[in-house]
Amino acid sequence: MTHEPLTVALVGCGRMGAFTSEGTRTSVPPCWLPLSHAEAVEAVDGLSLVALAEVDATRRNDAGERFGVPSQARYADAAEMLAAVRPDIAAIATRSDVRAATVEAALAAGVRGIHAEKPFAPRLGDTERLLSRMERDGVAFTFGTVRRFMPAYRRARELLADGAIGTLREVAVDFGAGQLLLWTLPHAVDLLLGYGGSSPESVCGRVDIPDGAVSGETIDADPAVRFARVRFADGVEGAITAAGGMDVRLSGTAGTIRVLSDGAALELARPSAPGGAYLDRVERVPVAQAPSGTQAAFMGLRDAIRGTGPMPMPHGDVVLGQRILGAIVVSSLDGGRETPLAAVPSGLTITGRYRGNVA
Ligand SMILES: NC(=O)c1ccc[n+]([C@@H]2O[C@H](COP(=O)([O-])OP(=O)(O)OC[C@H]3O[C@@H](n4cnc5c(N)ncnc54)[C@H](O)[C@@H]3O)[C@@H](O)[C@H]2O)c1
Repeated sequence: MTHEPLTVALVGCGRMGAFTSEGTRTSVPPCWLPLSHAEAVEAVDGLSLVALAEVDATRRNDAGERFGVPSQARYADAAEMLAAVRPDIAAIATRSDVRAATVEAALAAGVRGIHAEKPFAPRLGDTERLLSRMERDGVAFTFGTVRRFMPAYRRARELLADGAIGTLREVAVDFGAGQLLLWTLPHAVDLLLGYGGSSPESVCGRVDIPDGAVSGETIDADPAVRFARVRFADGVEGAITAAGGMDVRLSGTAGTIRVLSDGAALELARPSAPGGAYLDRVERVPVAQAPSGTQAAFMGLRDAIRGTGPMPMPHGDVVLGQRILGAIVVSSLDGGRETPLAAVPSGLTITGRYRGNVA
């Protein structure tokens, strides 16, 4: 069956929108590339980038030239573009301060799918409201936490479901000490949810917040996280550790799965004798490096909109992820005490401000 291409309009033509930095391009494993929204859309059959919006005129025109968007379809104002073009999919790659307003404009224009960068929005209540509206109206959604769409992370999920390591006990994410809550850790909590399930209950953690940044329910900073633990209803423990390496470790009753180096490789460690105490039988599991995470996210939107695939991710995971991030801060402000997710107020606002910019 042939389909008309679905139309995509891009908002924000910076690094994630259009121009992946050279430093990133040369350092990440192949499963990350294409990374920017425009490059990923270009690489997906059945999608066509028809318009873009960018407040910076130079970037707007550079992106238009690079991705073949004609000058009359290059806008300075995102809401104006969305209302005029009424695309099937909005790709939103601004920073988080204008994300909620841009999602509102996309929904008002009747989009059927949205791919939006992380973090979703500074105020938890805005994230809750917009994600439940999308879920209710059947608008497909994918988030910039794109590891969940990459082959190695998906294969790890299959191995886990197949019982390769028995019953899951712990999910540990090794992104290194001092990572910024909103800039980096949306990725970590999304991995905890992707493997640990959708029933996180409580969190404890420690963060460093600059003096004077806390006022009522607003934190005008991007806190640096020392560690965090997340307890799931079924007893699974999630850990955001101080260890480096960009690995994810799934520990079960009968072995360990490790996704290594940001998705470059996958390893399965099990006892050589059944029931043995040592995980001394270590195998490398072959994993593909394509499609990239962003590419697979857009493929998921395409298939959901065409009705040939499921919703690419649960809408609720975005809300739960932000609730976990909020609970890490609430816990830390309370001396590291175990904090139920339900205790995080919807008014909690974390601006993600760091070195003059926001996450
Ligand atoms: N998924 C990932 O792995 C990943 C990696 C890096 C950054 N990010 C996230 O992606 C987002 C963008 O990061 P970046 O590094 O590309 O930032 P950036 O500053 O390079 O790009 C943002 C662009 O949005 C434009 N913009 C701002 N307001 C706008 C508006 N109202 N309408 C149209 N354009 C507007 C800016 O002019 C800028 O060009 C951030 O939220 C960041 O946290 C995600």
